[in-house]
Amino acid sequence: MERPRRLRRTAAIRRLVSETRVHPAELVLPMFVKEGLSEPHPVASMPGVVQHSRESLRKAAVEAVEAGVGGIMLFGIPSQKDAGGTGGIDPGGILNVAIRDLASELGDSTVIMSDLCLDEFTDHGHCGVLRADGTVDNDATLVSYAEMAVAQATAGAHVLGLSGMMDGQVGAVRKALDSNGFQDVSLLAYAVKYASAFYGPFRDAVESSLEGDRRTYQQDSANVRESMREVRLDVAEGADIVLVKPALPYLDIVTRVHETVDVPVAAYQVSGEYAMVEAAAANGWLDRDRVILETLTSIKRAGAQIILTYWAVDAAHLLRA
Ligand code: PBG
Repeated sequence: MERPRRLRRTAAIRRLVSETRVHPAELVLPMFVKEGLSEPHPVASMPGVVQHSRESLRKAAVEAVEAGVGGIMLFGIPSQKDAGGTGGIDPGGILNVAIRDLASELGDSTVIMSDLCLDEFTDHGHCGVLRADGTVDNDATLVSYAEMAVAQATAGAHVLGLSGMMDGQVGAVRKALDSNGFQDVSLLAYAVKYASAFYGPFRDAVESSLEGDRRTYQQDSANVRESMREVRLDVAEGADIVLVKPALPYLDIVTRVHETVDVPVAAYQVSGEYAMVEAAAANGWLDRDRVILETLTSIKRAGAQIILTYWAVDAAHLLRA
């Protein structure tokens, strides 16, 4: 008789034969910084996550790096939004200023990533600029993304996270960076980003003013062939890393992407994934720490090499314990 249980007998044997290990260096912590705050402000739907002030961001980022996380993905919340999302492009805008803060505080000791999208900065909440009829103008948006990219690279970001889901965004941003001397700034392309209900708490965190949805640019969760097409396009346009988002409900996609391209694959364990577990754990219904490690292991096992997770610091501590 075959006896697979032999290799599960002791913790030491199980550790020896473990096929998947999560390492803190593969985890990226998404962080929020809000213009004008003097104290960090909790995000109600994401217990444990805050909107940072510039000062608290610096401190928390240093702590995250000391805990061993591999990088930081920064999101900015401006005090004023407008139709063009100009606060994201302005070198004095909160996101660019905070990138500069982190670059001077942390240098090359970690990977500083910044969200390259207009939705936190537009008063209508969409990821791009709108035409008179209210639809998102793809090509006009690319012009803004290109300017925003140069502003973020100038501020000191190592990696730009293209999350807006406009066609041609990777190529347009690559071209703008290259022609401004930023050949060495990398692009993390949200190649596969679904129009997901799991982003709800994030929209609280960035005080999104979106009404309606993003279904004309984010993808239909029913589709996988379409996702592979997006991935191929992004790699052809110059993506250095491709990302799948959300993570846990889309592990099949993570695996497919991993099998399809040879650039690193990232997955974003999004706000709703975080909130579900925190809420259940707060009720005593789930063992939070075990669930965190189990979800991260599953995402890694599916083929993600890099995981963006709001638990990055907690997980780094758990993995070292
Ligand atoms: C767009 C962006 C979003 C998230 C990351 N980048 C929001 C959206 O597409 O609505 C969501 C992340 C999360 O839910 O944790 N700038």
